[in-house]
Amino acid sequence: PKIRQHDFVIQATPVKRLCKTHNSITVNGMFPGPTLEVNNGDTLVVKVTNKARYNVTIHWHGVRQMRTAWADGPEFVTQCPIRPGASYTYRFTIQGQEGTLWWHAHSSWLRATVYGALIIHPKEGSSYPFPKPNRETPVLLGEWWDANPIDVVRQATRTGAAPNVSDAYTINGQPGDLYNCSSKDTVIVPIDSGETHLLRVINSGLNQELFFTIANHKFTVVGADASYLKPFTTSVIMLGPGQTTDVLINGDQSPARYYMAARAYASAPTAPFDNTTTTAILEYKSAPCPTKKGQAIRPIMPSLPAYNDTNTVTAFTTKFRSPQKVEVPTEIDENLFFTVGLGLNNCPKNFKSNQCQGPNGTRFTASMNNVSFVLPSNFSLLQAHHHGIPGVFTTDFPANPPLKFDYTGNVSRSLWQPVPGTKVYNLKYGSRVQIVVQGTSIFTVENHPIHLHGYDFYIIAEGFGNFNPRTDTSKFNLVDPPLRNTVSVPAAGWAVIRFVADNPGVWLMHCHLDVHITWGLAMAFLVENGVGELQSLQAPPPDLPQC
Ligand code: C2O
Repeated sequence: PKIRQHDFVIQATPVKRLCKTHNSITVNGMFPGPTLEVNNGDTLVVKVTNKARYNVTIHWHGVRQMRTAWADGPEFVTQCPIRPGASYTYRFTIQGQEGTLWWHAHSSWLRATVYGALIIHPKEGSSYPFPKPNRETPVLLGEWWDANPIDVVRQATRTGAAPNVSDAYTINGQPGDLYNCSSKDTVIVPIDSGETHLLRVINSGLNQELFFTIANHKFTVVGADASYLKPFTTSVIMLGPGQTTDVLINGDQSPARYYMAARAYASAPTAPFDNTTTTAILEYKSAPCPTKKGQAIRPIMPSLPAYNDTNTVTAFTTKFRSPQKVEVPTEIDENLFFTVGLGLNNCPKNFKSNQCQGPNGTRFTASMNNVSFVLPSNFSLLQAHHHGIPGVFTTDFPANPPLKFDYTGNVSRSLWQPVPGTKVYNLKYGSRVQIVVQGTSIFTVENHPIHLHGYDFYIIAEGFGNFNPRTDTSKFNLVDPPLRNTVSVPAAGWAVIRFVADNPGVWLMHCHLDVHITWGLAMAFLVENGVGELQSLQAPPPDLPQC
């Protein structure tokens, strides 16, 4: 195994998109940021120096961080932010994960421009469980705002109204040639007839699940969230923010130019192109020249499902299987039931009426089990836990929702109003955990991509409506369920996940729609040390930022 060292300098950089130049926060002046490539087993050492005027932290999304929670990155959870002018070195080892992950800022909405791919090749001397592709390409799906993303989130929290959708979606930072002033920078992925390519697709967008497809081509899905899958074919994939999917494509179509496209919410497959869509071009090397006699030849356009096409989504997600039988815990020590969804709060008394722009003058909020998560500000949760600093958090996060209600129907007003709190749930080292995550759909019908830090979990079942503990257990797949770090909990539906709490530390679990985590759709697990050094959190690094 190797030690891979990198320097990340966080800095404001002029970035031109959609005809305007912005001073965007970047890593090393690059947008998207640098792609890191490692082998399973390598150690990453990344020194982050903050030359911007905002606080920042970097999260290595999906990396298990065994015993190295100090390197996980969410601000005020595992570390205090890196202040302007300061630096912090993240040090961690990739243990057993192979495929595609990514990294992103975990501070306010800086991840809108501070993100990049983390590619984990097989262990030195071993190979993929599929034929070696001729070429590999990361495909980062993102969002672009004409406004400063920090101002967008400020507006969303102050007024309690949903923020505007972004001004463009992007592939590898580019909106694509269907947007103004974007055509000469469109991403072109070259392919030769007869070749096989591995696309590492990452949804690094902030607030929308995305469909992704390529005209006339089929995908063979081989992995997701840095775990291999039993391969299956599909013509469209769906990714919630935070999720990654590795697909193989074959150069088996007539030599031409084909659009690859990602779309957030088309009202219908035929809906005209707009700012919910982005394109790049898959170009055969022997394709006819893109302009013939001054006439542009348009690439072939794919069609994408409508946003509410549950059949396509269900057909896709139910194909996910681990490649062989896996060890899912069959006995459960912690049987948890978490509701996830939006709520409303009254407008604070000292606010002007125009400062609260949610329904009927209220503010939107979000919660798990009716607790709206509040980050501490003087210590990180992990520091407070490790050094026994009292008063930073409480350990009374409820194992069950406070009241039973029909998650798909109308509920009483008291359930719209979550209680704010910095509450964690304690887990003994090694406990076998099951969580039923129940989506509520009181205000909006929206899937929640729920991400757990520091762990991969098995998704053993998903369904619609209210989870029924008597009948739905028959749907559990305890043989070959997929291993992931983010699950798209269906709108007005549920998902059941299982994992073993074998990584001590404090681990955030949250909705990866940034507007929802901003509104409090999060909680944290405090996993205690086990017996001896190998089951205990390492000592904090000497340069860990203080608040
Ligand atoms: Cu990719 Cu807490 O996030």
